Amino acid sequence: MSTVTTGLARGAWTSRAGFILAAAGSAIGLGNIWRFPTTAGEYGGGAFVLVYLGFVLLVGIPVLLAELSVGRATERNPVGAFKALVPGSWWPAVGALGVLTGFGILSFYSVIAGWTLGYLWLAVTGAFSGALSSEESGAIFQQLVGNPLLPTLLALAFLVLTALIVRGGISGGIERASRILMPAFFVILLILTVRAVTLPGAGKGLEFLFTPDFSEIHIQVVANALGQALFSLSLGMGAMITYGSYLQKRESLPIVGFSVALFDTLIALMGGVLIFSALAFAGAESTTSGPGLVFVALPTIFHTLPFGTGFAIAFYALLAIAALTSTISLLEVIVSYLVDQRGWARARATWGMALACAVLSIPSALSLGGSPFFTRFVGEVSFLDLMNIVWGNYSLSLGAMAICLFVGWKWGVRNALAEIQAEGNRFALAPLWSFLVRFVCPLGVAAVLAYIIFNRQYF
Ligand code: PHE
Repeated sequence: MSTVTTGLARGAWTSRAGFILAAAGSAIGLGNIWRFPTTAGEYGGGAFVLVYLGFVLLVGIPVLLAELSVGRATERNPVGAFKALVPGSWWPAVGALGVLTGFGILSFYSVIAGWTLGYLWLAVTGAFSGALSSEESGAIFQQLVGNPLLPTLLALAFLVLTALIVRGGISGGIERASRILMPAFFVILLILTVRAVTLPGAGKGLEFLFTPDFSEIHIQVVANALGQALFSLSLGMGAMITYGSYLQKRESLPIVGFSVALFDTLIALMGGVLIFSALAFAGAESTTSGPGLVFVALPTIFHTLPFGTGFAIAFYALLAIAALTSTISLLEVIVSYLVDQRGWARARATWGMALACAVLSIPSALSLGGSPFFTRFVGEVSFLDLMNIVWGNYSLSLGAMAICLFVGWKWGVRNALAEIQAEGNRFALAPLWSFLVRFVCPLGVAAVLAYIIFNRQYF
């Protein structure tokens, strides 16, 4: 059995380009422009980037295909998908973990996304029109994020925007928005990146990002690279199961999957190049970083461009939109679960969950000075960092491992391949993919998690 139909009237993507853009919209977001440079900065630069690229190829792309095949075969949300394929087993718990993880990620993601709205406002008011030193830029950042109220309100605003689109359903809201906005984001990013690498000093930043120092590779570099590869491709929590469930049978999952992975990785690398060139130009130390890295680095280069303020406005507007296409996919996982499995009305599920998430976002919003308690929640680790590590690294890793075990050993690669090769679609790398999903991915992820648990090196 490789195909199950739900009998529920569900939306579908109207075209392949529409789907690729929407799935790429889920993948491309703050993970590329904020999380990738921040994590690379914290964990050794070039060494991290190298391990990250390895994980994208060996774990990310195989898991992406696995998720898309489960989604399209069942046309259901993550919990319903497992239920349909193996009724009466505990496998749906993997889907449930995914729904929970989506909630956890959305709660802190919306805070960072809220900062982009704050920065958009700062750009509009001309705050970045003149030359700024990295200290001045840092002060602007701290003033925004250290405010006890503003970050919470901005996160709430962002969740409301997300809910408005998710409320509209699949091709109406999500697809239409992605089609126009993702290409625009790419163009602005490209212009900024080209400008950044041609600034004096940029070479030092590039060196940091692309010269791996192998002595830097320790378990936290590996664990974070794995988490980042999954986070950036929206894997390990069923987002791609959900998106795959709206995909038509005639589409080639390998083509779709590779395209999404390629775009996503390219944009992460561009984000890294942009940020570290800007940092080097501003004379800041690459390795002293934190969640503010991107927000401090970028404003120092806008004045070097003609129409700098215009660029700043366009960049923050489009970054907010890139984040929005990601938060949409996070909320969509939760909503499709409640609608399909629990029979909630779409509007109720959307608004109820967005508001619940807004409440959980408060401690994260207070994590950069707003409240000393949440700023140093566990030792030096803030509540926001904790959420980021627990949901963004560990929960996604666990979920990805479970999905590989499921597709590799329970549902079986044969069924998955029948779905991937449906309607005459070709997949030349099928044997390699099967090997990766059955052995390399689950064992690799298990080894990383086991090492961390045995050595208690959680952060
Ligand atoms: N991939 C998104 C980003 O890079 C974040 C995300 C993670 C979205 C997991 C959905 C699921 O910003």
